[in-house]
Amino acid sequence: MADVLNHLANKLPRRKFDAAIIGAGGSGMRCSLQLAEAGLSVAVLSKVFPTRSHTVAAQGGIGASLGNMSEDNWYWHMFDTIKGSDYLGDQDAIEFMCREAPNVVYELEHFGMPFDRNPDGTIYQRPFGGHTANFGEKPVQRACAAADRTGHALLHTLYQRNVRARTQFFVEWMALDIIRDAQGDCCGVVALEMETGEVMVIEAKVTVFATGGAGRIFSASTNAFINTGDGLGMAARAGIPLEDMEFWQFHPTGVAGAGVLITEGVRGEGGILLNKHGERFMERYAPTLKDLAPRDFVSRSMDQEIKEGRGCGPEGDYVLLKLDHLGAETILKRLPSIREIAIKFANVDPIRDPIPVVPTIHYQMGGIPTNYHGQVVAPKGGDPNAVVAGLYAIGECACVSVHGANRLGTNSLLDLIVFGRAAGNHIVAGNRDTAAHKPLPGDAGDATLARLARLDGSTSGESVQDVANDIRRVMQKHCGVFRTAELLGDGVTRIMEIDARVGDIHIADKSKVFNTARVEALELENLIETAKATIVSASARQESRGAHAHRDYPERDDTNWIKHSLWYSQDNRLDYKPVTMKPLTVETFAPKARTF
Ligand code: FUM
Repeated sequence: MADVLNHLANKLPRRKFDAAIIGAGGSGMRCSLQLAEAGLSVAVLSKVFPTRSHTVAAQGGIGASLGNMSEDNWYWHMFDTIKGSDYLGDQDAIEFMCREAPNVVYELEHFGMPFDRNPDGTIYQRPFGGHTANFGEKPVQRACAAADRTGHALLHTLYQRNVRARTQFFVEWMALDIIRDAQGDCCGVVALEMETGEVMVIEAKVTVFATGGAGRIFSASTNAFINTGDGLGMAARAGIPLEDMEFWQFHPTGVAGAGVLITEGVRGEGGILLNKHGERFMERYAPTLKDLAPRDFVSRSMDQEIKEGRGCGPEGDYVLLKLDHLGAETILKRLPSIREIAIKFANVDPIRDPIPVVPTIHYQMGGIPTNYHGQVVAPKGGDPNAVVAGLYAIGECACVSVHGANRLGTNSLLDLIVFGRAAGNHIVAGNRDTAAHKPLPGDAGDATLARLARLDGSTSGESVQDVANDIRRVMQKHCGVFRTAELLGDGVTRIMEIDARVGDIHIADKSKVFNTARVEALELENLIETAKATIVSASARQESRGAHAHRDYPERDDTNWIKHSLWYSQDNRLDYKPVTMKPLTVETFAPKARTF
């Protein structure tokens, strides 16, 4: 059998590129642009048309201390990001990101990105959660916005620049597995054309994961259906650990019952959260920043209000986001998509009525471990910082780690652009010394073909949707805003039971289904890796930090837990590594209590 597979794998069509980038969202296209403009041959693989990547859903803005509205600087931004991360972020990477932020935003402006403008022509900036002046003294306007469609404007800008630079897009192609040789170096990727089912090997000197988040492991999520953790699954199967997967951000304002995102920019423009008594309850929890405290803080406060019986609606299971007092003119100018979403998904016009909202899964802080050049890091032979040659990860699928235990709003778009660009620069510099492709190992593609053969050959088993829905139900119930040892322990048992079922999937009547059914079955194998990493890492962390709020361990434990988790799929094992507390050029921000 192995010989046959080897034979088949050797017959797969092959293409050669300097670089293969998996994912065409903000980070993938920022990286590809850097490479294509430097003259490298670049393949970008995407499950969807590039401008439909999930970055398109980013609404409120990209963070940068331009100081267009009032005094600001990158050092305050750095402090806010570290405090927001609950002191789990790596301070070297955070300094790098916050210093680079103004440069990358001005670069986007010069690429033609249609930011909103102030009367003097400068970029308009709005307040966002956790962004402050003078180390927490008062809110600052740092979010550079294109109305409430900043991600949409960003993606279209990057796509047009990439077309001009002759980046080669493989649209509706799904990457299945990376190829590692005997030294562990990455030599390329095996990919599937979704329409035809053709499998191809892409040989590349450098492969870049830019596959985005995996929010679809939860039932209530602001994430697109494509966000199935494909990069995380590929990395896990290839023996690379996943870092800090216990930290998942609940965005405070998803439309109740629908999960669609209502940007924090609404509160940035002056919107407020109310309980059933009409009380602006955030004044009690965060007297200085109020509704603009960081997201973990606001989500927990909302959950508390609901659990203590002050929620709104017949079931008392949501709170209200009021913005009518901003006036129709501001809403139509600054928040036009929010009005549309509220009308379509909540049946309310926010010019007159408040929007029912609940905390909703939005963002994964953890991911594939990298350094701030975007190189994938996997401990090897006693070296905790060993890089996997030829492999990079950027954007939400990566853990660099600039978000630590909780990300600040607007730092996601910033992360995409800063580290997409930085990885691009690092690859271009390295490409000068890497004249040839490494030879593919003889068994390249075998494991992937065996996976496909098992799926295509199955005559019994469960449907993908039944198993995927069970993953989502367990994750939603056992790994929510507040966690307990009992909930997490049960969650681990249940997810491991589901893991066993993933190996027995049946695609009913293959002659009648499109390849999408096969794609969903392949995505399921990535969802389960992500779910296992999350629940196992969460169950082990005995403290509360950022988005990991543990009722049995309600305090942050800086003595034992300022460390990153590393989860390995092969033996479902956890390891840990230190947080980088030393910035590049400035003094360390030492951990302090987080009050707002
Ligand atoms: O609220 C928002 O507009 C989301 C922004 C973000 O996640 O950074």
